[in-house]
Amino acid sequence: MIIPLLKVTNLSKSYDNIVGCKNISMSLYPGEVLGIVGESGSGKTTLINCLSGNLEPDRGKIIFNINNKKTDFLNISESEKRKFIRTDLAFVHQNPRDGLRLNVSAGGNIGEKLMSVGYRHYGNIRSLATKWINKVEIDKSRIDDLPITFSGGMLQRLQIAKNLITSPNVIFMDEPTGGLDVSVQARVLDLIRSLVNELNLTVIIVSHDLAVIRLLADKMIVMKNGTVIESGLSDQVLEDPQQEYTQLLVSSVLHV
Ligand SMILES: Nc1ncnc2c1ncn2[C@@H]1O[C@H](COP(=O)(O)OP(=O)(O)O)[C@@H](O)[C@H]1O
Ligand SMILES: [Mg+2]
Repeated sequence: MIIPLLKVTNLSKSYDNIVGCKNISMSLYPGEVLGIVGESGSGKTTLINCLSGNLEPDRGKIIFNINNKKTDFLNISESEKRKFIRTDLAFVHQNPRDGLRLNVSAGGNIGEKLMSVGYRHYGNIRSLATKWINKVEIDKSRIDDLPITFSGGMLQRLQIAKNLITSPNVIFMDEPTGGLDVSVQARVLDLIRSLVNELNLTVIIVSHDLAVIRLLADKMIVMKNGTVIESGLSDQVLEDPQQEYTQLLVSSVLHV
């Protein structure tokens, strides 16, 4: 029997009396990509922030099971949690400025990340950084340049490199192509898709764009007012949505 890498039970988070997300239960298996969709304000960011440790939920359980080691995410010490987030999780923000330090060179951004998980040898850091800069299709001559000089697409590719270089076990992405020009979106999406396939990544990705979900996600959940109203294999949900709300989401994409 395969054990879920992540098992979430009855997770809830409110902001005073505004519901962020409510009674969310789900499982994620190694190598799966889960898409989270729903209109603005439906709770996608609240959920992904709770799962990634950016936000403390009010109730519920989050259990990670990585290499036969169980982590009860909401019941470990702060220092254990910080270490777990650093070594096992990654978060690709919609705005690369939230995931990068713009006044530190591209290679420096990546190097810092490696040092945070224990790398010390300059030569190793430099060569791994070069390899990843290359892997995300940034010209390696740009390694010592400041990210401020990068285009939006390059910034997002650098953020992706910084996040993946430590081989995290679960990668969270909140609208990773949402802030990019349409022409650039497709290329970044393509890069994410090839990395997911090549590295067999386990990913939770939020997008309001069903085309992104169709391309990347094996399974998906549909959120409305903080709750999951429909879930299943992406192909099935997108081809044959059961809930009226999902039907509206899907048809508005088809008619764009
Ligand atoms: N920091 C906050 N303070 C108060 N309300 C918030 C905060 N963040 C989100 N909310 C509310 O929680 C609900 C879910 O928001 P969010 O998780 O950001 O949804 P989504 O990412 O799907 O747009 C919305 O009603 C939103 O207004
Ligand atoms: Mg959001």
